[in-house]
Amino acid sequence: MRFSDEFVFGTATASYQVEGAHDQGGRTPSIWDTMCRTPGKVANGDTGDVACDQYHRWEEDLEIIKGLGLDAYRFSISWSRVIPDGVGAVNREGVDYYRRLCQGLHEAGVKAVATLYHWDLPQVLQDRGGWAARETAHAFADYARAMARELGDVVDTWSTLNEPWCSAYLGYGSGVHAPGHVDALEALRAVHHLNLAHGLASAALREELGPDVRICLTLNLHVIRPASDGDSDVAAARKIEVVGNEAFLQPVMEGRFPEELREITKGVTDWSFVREGDLDLCHQVPDILGINYYATSTVRAAIPGEASLSGGHGETGVSPWLCCEDVTFLAPEGKLTEMGWNIDPSGLVELLVRTARRYPGQELMVTENGAAFDDDVAPDGSIHDEDRIDYLRGHLGAVGEAIEQGARLTGYFEWSLLDNFEWSFGYGKRFGMVRVDYDTLKRTVKDSGKWYADLARTRDLAAVGADWVARD
Ligand code: FCB
Repeated sequence: MRFSDEFVFGTATASYQVEGAHDQGGRTPSIWDTMCRTPGKVANGDTGDVACDQYHRWEEDLEIIKGLGLDAYRFSISWSRVIPDGVGAVNREGVDYYRRLCQGLHEAGVKAVATLYHWDLPQVLQDRGGWAARETAHAFADYARAMARELGDVVDTWSTLNEPWCSAYLGYGSGVHAPGHVDALEALRAVHHLNLAHGLASAALREELGPDVRICLTLNLHVIRPASDGDSDVAAARKIEVVGNEAFLQPVMEGRFPEELREITKGVTDWSFVREGDLDLCHQVPDILGINYYATSTVRAAIPGEASLSGGHGETGVSPWLCCEDVTFLAPEGKLTEMGWNIDPSGLVELLVRTARRYPGQELMVTENGAAFDDDVAPDGSIHDEDRIDYLRGHLGAVGEAIEQGARLTGYFEWSLLDNFEWSFGYGKRFGMVRVDYDTLKRTVKDSGKWYADLARTRDLAAVGADWVARD
């Protein structure tokens, strides 16, 4: 498989996971700062206070991206850094940071893909209800408009939200993510307000930047397999798809409310907070539908009384799969990553081809894919992360296959450029193609980074096949 010269080989990070400088340059706390200060919420008591210190070391990171010859860098803007009060005045120092970063990327010939929301809501807005409150969607649109005005000339692609599934269900449903609430009604309100936020922000971006703006929405669409083809297992899988995928796809891509979701959630809400005209507002088909993919899940109908937790996101004792007590997730099989996630490139082919057929002509990008493994550092300091290379080779093969099957897939972003703060798992899970020594903050390109650089250069999976060896 040869990738075209236009195909974008990128890499991704997110503000809270890499920036650090949590109280510098006028930044106010986000919900993740609060979460990290709540005992028991984050492994090891880790915080993003310093993280990878990208706020101060962005030039070094830019050199690494350049050195790897990558086409694009997907980073996120910290809302509370650029609008410290959540609404209102822009903080010049914060905006200037992103301007310098984007300009640096441009000079290096690397495309700047800016995500507006990768989970770090300003704490002041959480104090007013967070995503459970409709006002937050409007605040988000104002923030998007302000960023369009400030950075519209240097950002190549705008991504509105990263994985609203996590924001809603992990943030307000199971409480494993910030703000750590366990409240089904809040979670469902958040689903709607996030869809609305995407819609309102997209409209604002289009208004400010005109028809050539490139807008992306990134969803972590779930690939759910029924344990058998029996009716009850198939129905169990469909239920998870409705709560996990349809809840976002239908409002944004089709302007429809997913009626099956109403039925599933009727014990929690009648959705009367969805106002007349809202679905038209949500219905802003992105120029690029971004898909984050890591693993698949297999489910079956639960045996009554059986506990039904889904692994893989950290556990609080509450499932993020609201109203799905009658669905059981099977333990993942085969070789697992350090997150406990299975390794199944066929799920990525299936997801991409299915999405391409459902939305013919829709431009797609894989905006995240990658794997956490415990890396060994060799005596000479090098990191021979064969497991990660195998994972990437398999999944880039899947990307190639989906393109051959007709998906309009224009890019792939490896998660992540750097080892970083993996949310409630803290620094324990390493996803980077570049190792970060958290004592010294020294960066070392792993073999997987060299492998990915060779792929980006040759555009040829055969050139980086099983006999590939790392060069210095
Ligand atoms: C995704 C997140 C990203 C990172 C990876 C491992 O869900 O978008 O920030 O944590 O998982």
